[in-house]
Amino acid sequence: MGLVWWLGVGLLLVFAQAWASSPEKPKCLPGFKKDSNLFEVDRRHLHSGRVLGKVGFDDCMARKRFKFGSSDRHFHVEQDGTLMVSVCFEMHKYSLCPSFGSNVVFCEGDENYHVIQNLPVLRFLNFSKRRKRAWIIPPLNILENDRGPYPKLVAQIRSDKDKWSRMEYKITSYGANGLFIIDRNTGQLYVTKPLDRERKSQYMLDVHANFASMVNAQAESTMAVIVNVLDMNDNKPVFTQDPFVAEVAEASAKDFVVITINATDLDDPQTYNAEIRYKIWSQEPKLPNANLFAINPVSGAIRVNRQGLDREKYPRYTLEVEAADMRGEGLTARGRVILTVTDSNDIAPAFEMAQYEASVPENKVGAQVVRMSVTDGDELNSPAWNAKFQIVAGDKNGQFAVETGPGKQEGIITTVKGLDYEMTKTYTLLVTVENEIPFAIRLPTATATVVVSVEDLNEAPVFSPTIRVVKRKEDLAVASEIVRYTATDPDTERSQNVSYKIMKDPARWLSVNPDTGLIKVKKGMDRESQYVQDGKYTALIMAYDDDVSPATGTGTLEIELEDVNDNIPSINERIIKVCNTESAPQLLSVTDADGPDFAAPYTVSLMGRSKNNWTATMDDTGTGIILTLIRALPMGDYNVVLRVADNHGLEQDNIVMATVCECTGNEVTCKVGIREGGIGLPGLLVRSGAVLLLLLLALLLLIFIRRRGGEQNEPLPPNEDIRDHIYYNDEEGGGEDHQDNYDLSVHRGPDDRHGSSGVMPCFMPKAENRPRPANPEDIGKFIDDNLTAADRDPLAPPSHC
Ligand SMILES: *[C@@H]1O[C@H](CO)[C@@H](O)[C@H](O)[C@H]1NC(C)=O
Ligand SMILES: *[C@@H]1O[C@H](CO)[C@@H](O)[C@H](O)[C@H]1NC(C)=O
Ligand SMILES: *[C@@H]1O[C@H](CO)[C@@H](O)[C@H](O)[C@H]1NC(C)=O
Ligand SMILES: *[C@@H]1O[C@H](CO)[C@@H](O)[C@H](O)[C@H]1NC(C)=O
Repeated sequence: MGLVWWLGVGLLLVFAQAWASSPEKPKCLPGFKKDSNLFEVDRRHLHSGRVLGKVGFDDCMARKRFKFGSSDRHFHVEQDGTLMVSVCFEMHKYSLCPSFGSNVVFCEGDENYHVIQNLPVLRFLNFSKRRKRAWIIPPLNILENDRGPYPKLVAQIRSDKDKWSRMEYKITSYGANGLFIIDRNTGQLYVTKPLDRERKSQYMLDVHANFASMVNAQAESTMAVIVNVLDMNDNKPVFTQDPFVAEVAEASAKDFVVITINATDLDDPQTYNAEIRYKIWSQEPKLPNANLFAINPVSGAIRVNRQGLDREKYPRYTLEVEAADMRGEGLTARGRVILTVTDSNDIAPAFEMAQYEASVPENKVGAQVVRMSVTDGDELNSPAWNAKFQIVAGDKNGQFAVETGPGKQEGIITTVKGLDYEMTKTYTLLVTVENEIPFAIRLPTATATVVVSVEDLNEAPVFSPTIRVVKRKEDLAVASEIVRYTATDPDTERSQNVSYKIMKDPARWLSVNPDTGLIKVKKGMDRESQYVQDGKYTALIMAYDDDVSPATGTGTLEIELEDVNDNIPSINERIIKVCNTESAPQLLSVTDADGPDFAAPYTVSLMGRSKNNWTATMDDTGTGIILTLIRALPMGDYNVVLRVADNHGLEQDNIVMATVCECTGNEVTCKVGIREGGIGLPGLLVRSGAVLLLLLLALLLLIFIRRRGGEQNEPLPPNEDIRDHIYYNDEEGGGEDHQDNYDLSVHRGPDDRHGSSGVMPCFMPKAENRPRPANPEDIGKFIDDNLTAADRDPLAPPSHC
């Protein structure tokens, strides 16, 4: 407080009364252009000659130069109104703001001077002509935080009528209870407490003037006064966050803006009191250099100032920042900014070896060739660390593939196609490694050479073509050549011999020469065999080389068998039942195992005595026989002999057993148990004798055949059934004698009661045999003769089956 004395304060600016003299607008009143001027000056600039600003004055006569005076010797006003410091002086750091009466020079903090004008006088205006008080009365400006003492005089209210009458002044205020008071006699307006602009920056007062001599005699219209609270720099800046946190990629370019920090100041944003400047106070660590970041002092934007960010070494920086108001010269605040350096792909992956050697067996697809490890210094398991491989040279045909192993730090080369040792024995591949994301900075890409040796393997011989189709007649003679079907061995370097073997030959018809691959007929082929599908017989041939562990290849031989008329047509239905009167025609179907070239249409004729009692004709399709009984026969079983021939005349006699019943038309009903002639006990005995005789005959026949078989070129296959053929021998023309033998009605096989062994059944359900190439004339005659003899035996009654 003792320091106050030297800050002599005086009237700096002469109070201007111009506005108060008259409300008449067009009428010019001499005076200061503003009744209040505010200049700010930094304390450091309070040196002699420093211009602080200019005050304006109008004398209504357009003159520009006047004689101004200053009540404070430190300040001086030039004739043109320029206000400057006249005496060099310093302010003590802790000097306080003096306040002398109504003349005020403020010093604020220890930084700035606010020089404002003296005590304002507010006069009531004569509104008789116009009512424009709202903008005619200038606002009252009061600095906040004034130290007092209080009540403090802030303005003088005057009515011009106080010259001739005593006045009584009053105020009413809104929202400022007790803050403003007025001396009712003098009109002096006081403020009772320090104001705070940050709480309320403006007040409205109504001032009233009454004649003191009369009660409630209003002397003037109410005057509205606006009180503005002037800002002092009484608020520090405050950072909106502390700390500020941000990330910065290590590869960030210079001037990349990392974060913009922000501080606010509650002071009047219209003044410097709230004008903030930022700076970086310190950086920790100061490595690799101290000024890695820079800040825009106005905007607070922190940017990268230099290269050198390296996450691998300095993953985090702490900046201490400062915000200061008064454009960086006022109150300050400190804060921190924490910057995390994030990884950029600034390290290239590197192979552990420059060259790899590997060998891989030929012909193997998907075989692993080599695994190549790499290292990368970037952040583990990030895309900047994960490796990506590429084969850039040495694989023209795309025979290799490279992929990243599960650990992402390994490249695995595999074969995409089987390699051929006989074609290429080594490959030299050039492999590069990069990361999943591109490098953030310019980096060389690492490469490695992989030399792949192909291992020779014993390869299987290959048939060409793999399926060989040939067309041959089904009756191709045994031992005749079918085809030479060979395989070649791709192992050209090994000079191996290839051998052949039959691998699959279901009917055992074929043989192959192991050395030449020549395939021959081993046994007569048959197009109608169950092993033939759609006329094709399929066999598999194997070729194998003579390696220690032989490799085998397989070829398929398809023989298309051309049809030969080697099957006789045959009647399917062998048992029929008909009525003996008006009997219905019977439809019998015919089949021939041969293909259509050697089958329908068929022809039919009745043989022997059957002609007498039956008719047989072909139907329209040529495949069905219409058999009709033309004579009413006695009830009983009859054998009807039908000769059926195919379209090439290959024929066979078929025996159909017809049971003739005592009935009429279609509805065949047979009376059970009643048979023609019946069978008595003596008859049975006689028949047994006949059966025994037949058995004996069959035995003789077998012996006979055996003996003949030794002499014949083509013996009958022992397992084939000849029974359908031994009952007749009519191919030579069939004389009457022979034809008699066709009636087999009395030539019966033994029935069950006689312990039938099935050697000689009474009829064949179906002829399924192939014709004998050699005519067994002698056999047939031999048997026929014997059968005839038995047939004519009057003691032999017809047997039944
Ligand atoms: C105010 O105006 C009235 C007429 O409207 C006039 O009579 C009076 O003299 C004026 N007073 C002053 C002080 O000018
Ligand atoms: C600073 O923060 C204040 C208050 O949160 C906000 O109004 C202002 O817009 C911010 N300034 C910038 C530059 O972000
Ligand atoms: C291959 O066969 C030929 C003649 O058949 C024979 O001379 C040669 O030794 C055989 N080669 C091998 C490797 O067995
Ligand atoms: C044909 O019918 C006569 C009777 O009319 C009969 O005696 C003869 O045995 C029958 N022949 C055949 C083969 O059925």
